Amino acid sequence: MSTPAPKGTGSITPADGATYARIMGVGGYRPERVVMNSEIIEAIDSSDEWIQERSGIKSRRFAAKDESVVDMSEHATREALTAAGLEASDVDAVVVATVTHPYQTPAAAPILADRFGIRGAAFDISAACAGYCHAISLASDMVRGGSARHVLVVGVEKLSDFTDPTDRGSAFIFGDGAGAAIVGPSDTPAIGPTVWGSDGSQWKTISQRDSWTEVRDGDLGWPAIGMAGQSVFRWAVWGMAPVAQKALDAAGVRAEDLDAFIPHQANMRIIDAMIKQLKLPADIPVARDIAETANTSAASIPLATERMLREGEIPHGALALQIGFGAGLVYAAQVVVLP
Ligand code: UT7
Repeated sequence: MSTPAPKGTGSITPADGATYARIMGVGGYRPERVVMNSEIIEAIDSSDEWIQERSGIKSRRFAAKDESVVDMSEHATREALTAAGLEASDVDAVVVATVTHPYQTPAAAPILADRFGIRGAAFDISAACAGYCHAISLASDMVRGGSARHVLVVGVEKLSDFTDPTDRGSAFIFGDGAGAAIVGPSDTPAIGPTVWGSDGSQWKTISQRDSWTEVRDGDLGWPAIGMAGQSVFRWAVWGMAPVAQKALDAAGVRAEDLDAFIPHQANMRIIDAMIKQLKLPADIPVARDIAETANTSAASIPLATERMLREGEIPHGALALQIGFGAGLVYAAQVVVLP
């Protein structure tokens, strides 16, 4: 009779994580085709003036018909890797935030990872316009928890595929693009505590019009994303400044210490209302990428960040408050040190 192998101590070896995490590099991709308001207005009986006055949007980019969310992510990832001074082989996890990858399964992340020969963990998250801030939070926890050393985070949307060009309430709002960030270990705290939450009772205020099974069983046409604009607007204006303030408090940072405010690019009026409520000093640079990029959901914050850094509006190492909010309804905010 053989003797059973001796058991271990019964305790699990803990994962070995970094003390802190930081964003090491960001990258952005804006599709080539610029779509001015004038191209949108006829189908929705609107005007360039109305769109600019109500949303601040002048133009947006639309991806080419055969350009996928994975294609756009690939461009943004290359930039982020270069900015971080890393090779794809350094990345051991990929998190893609998107709601417009047109496959129910598989996720976009493993396909993106494969383009770079990455064989680490790869998965998508669905948190709409708050997806990037959710993914930054996850990536930070992964690096600190020891489940990854360098995480590629991508926020990407091809909303032109899921927008009804004849819907007055949403056709002018959305755009396409991708933003990427590499999150890795840090000697000092550089990603603050995330303040996040949800209110699923309002799920219908921004939603794909019909579920896939309803589309299959009915004569409903393409299930574009619809939005009860006014309800979302009120929720964002009154609900999101307190969340942003909590993120500042959690990080122990005062509004006047910020180098940048980078809110989700949903509507210029929402951005202005938040600045007022947060009592941000007038000289703090605020992301206003929405004017030329419109609302790119999960891509909006990394795209706005990439632009501010590239155009020298904020210095490298800037202390920034970022907040995403949208369909779910869900939100997430944190203070970060930019690369
Ligand atoms: O990214 C996820 C989160 N999303 C958001 O945060 C978006 C939040 N919502 C919004 O940004 C705004 O609600 C919109 C920009 C979508 C709409 O602006 P609004 O000021 O809320 O417009 P409204 O729906 O209250 O409509 C105002 C007026 C109405 O006319 P009356 O009743 O005042 O005569 C509408 O019929 O504007 C009319 N209208 C339009 N006119 C021209 C509505 N849509 C249009 C349009 N063009 N596209």
